[in-house]
Amino acid sequence: MGNIKADYKEEYNYKGYFSLQSYLSKEQVAQIVYHLDLYEKEPHEGMVREVKSGELRAVHGPHLYDSFFKELSQNRDIVALAEEILGEPCYLHQFKINLKRRFSGEQWPWHEDFVYWHEKDGVKAPKLVNIVLFLDNTDMLSGPLCFIPFSHNSLWSYASSANVEESDWMRDVSADLTYQLDTEVVSKLISKHGTEFQMGSPGDLLVFSPLLAHCSGNNMSPHHRRMLILTFNAISNAPSKQNRPEFLCGRP
Ligand code: SIN
Ligand code: MN
Repeated sequence: MGNIKADYKEEYNYKGYFSLQSYLSKEQVAQIVYHLDLYEKEPHEGMVREVKSGELRAVHGPHLYDSFFKELSQNRDIVALAEEILGEPCYLHQFKINLKRRFSGEQWPWHEDFVYWHEKDGVKAPKLVNIVLFLDNTDMLSGPLCFIPFSHNSLWSYASSANVEESDWMRDVSADLTYQLDTEVVSKLISKHGTEFQMGSPGDLLVFSPLLAHCSGNNMSPHHRRMLILTFNAISNAPSKQNRPEFLCGRP
């Protein structure tokens, strides 16, 4: 792990994301996967299953229940990276590991993330950042994240006017997401900016804006597509509501 160069911050602000290969060593990834395997063997709050297969879809807030993940969530380089991007002190708002199991991991429809934190948690401004660590080889068959570059510049008005009935927190992380982007909006954005699939190898890093339009398809491959996602928020932008469990809505 290490600090990033100023160029990456520029790229983040310009395109809405940047990636870095081999941010973690193979040994560090193996350690995470070892602890994840142990974690999955016991029931924990924040675990979510796929509707069709019943396989585990994701774990939320593992840092609240497990000392290894707590330490990982406090890793100085990762926190420094978030603070560099946000330009102010931050805290961990959300920590999840999406497991997207071989042959059965289901989709994430088109959405942007900020609307959830804004509507459900009362976070005022999009002063958050997603830091993703790849745990597996991720190719086209395994349902990689797909981004619409530059879309972080045009989605704020949509996010702030979202009007959806109250729903259970589980729907916020399901294959039938609570707040999905309108297909007309997605069509216009794609015709303007195109799409970019985020493939990668274990240990690669991806950092993306909470306003970036993204989705991912089902995993049709014989390999899991596990991704660890840490979302940091500026302390000055802390949530004003406490509707959702702490494993989805962290506190400074
Ligand atoms: C997300 O939208 O937060 C994650 C999507 C994925 O795991 O593909
Ligand atoms: Mn998302």
